[in-house]
Amino acid sequence: MADKIATFDDWKDLFYKWQKDIGFDTSLIKDYKFDAIYDEGTSPEIEFGEFKGRNKFEKVLDIPTQDMRDSLLHLIYYQGDTEFGSTEQQRKLLDTAPSEYDRQCLLRVMREEQRHGWQMCHVLISHFGDSGKLEARKLLERRAYEGTRLLGAFNKEMENWIDFFTYTCFIDRDGKFQLTMLHHSSFAPLSRSMGPMLKEEAFHLFTGQSGLSRILKGGKVPVEILQKYLNKWLSTGYDLFGKDHSSAAARFYRWGFKGRYDETTAVAPPADLERMNEEARSLYYNEDCQIIATLNQLIPEGQPKLRAPDPKFNRQIGEYVGKTYSVDGQPLSNKEYQDHLKTVLPGPEDRTALESVFKDKNWMTAGNA
Ligand SMILES: [Fe+2]
Ligand SMILES: [Fe+2]
Repeated sequence: MADKIATFDDWKDLFYKWQKDIGFDTSLIKDYKFDAIYDEGTSPEIEFGEFKGRNKFEKVLDIPTQDMRDSLLHLIYYQGDTEFGSTEQQRKLLDTAPSEYDRQCLLRVMREEQRHGWQMCHVLISHFGDSGKLEARKLLERRAYEGTRLLGAFNKEMENWIDFFTYTCFIDRDGKFQLTMLHHSSFAPLSRSMGPMLKEEAFHLFTGQSGLSRILKGGKVPVEILQKYLNKWLSTGYDLFGKDHSSAAARFYRWGFKGRYDETTAVAPPADLERMNEEARSLYYNEDCQIIATLNQLIPEGQPKLRAPDPKFNRQIGEYVGKTYSVDGQPLSNKEYQDHLKTVLPGPEDRTALESVFKDKNWMTAGNA
């Protein structure tokens, strides 16, 4: 794709080409029209950081320094990259939906993730000049299935519907955290983008959690196998919060671009600006544990319960990269760890077992009952 983008309409043409290229059949979403949607945002004034109390930045040129503008650009295209990445990951699942209800849920999720990507590109192209246009184009050039999306979670394979439900329950939950943190942004167009995106995100989380509940109610998927999918996706979800010590996160906060997940209820300023990622990750971990506790109520007595993998397990970002901790957070030798990975992440024999489960039409309970 060497096409140059002069206007948002030019970008739209590239977007339609991207849909075709990834094999997304647009006739399935009928006459749905993609659109950028803005609401009134959270507040006309900057809510935290060094510029607190000033009017929010309406235009990029209102932002005092080039350093700040570059950081903001980076924040927006990273968010956009996840949106397009997830549709690419989900693209093959339409043919294997457990029911028409689930197929419609997947289509809605895919359509809304594409709209989120569209929204981020609208902000980039409307406000960031040539560099925004370039990044908006690059967002349509990377591919999850070629491993070129910017964050590891969005290059992982989604092979089946257990992947899908675990992903929408826990990776879209990371999405909810990121969007909530950007909702209070000092850059007004970004803040005004987040309300409508968060509303759509709620449906993705519902799809994931209710899907996992229906799998447990169906009682056909061994809990031990489901646990492996939790191990796969949650460890990836922990990575999405970034490095434990992050000067970038500190800058984002000081400049008012990205707040805390609990920005509206937090009573004191952050204790350590460089540990903001770690704080957000621990709130995410706690929420994951609550969801898992709810799911566990559906597992009959005497069967193993689900649990969140330890935050030290299988990490690709932060201080535990390359460390050999078990799903329970126990240090292992290299050899022990390699053997451990084979037993706690989904492997070929799990896939074979699941293939026969999926042949049973009632492997999960009905979704629209
Ligand atoms: Fe999204
Ligand atoms: Fe989502």
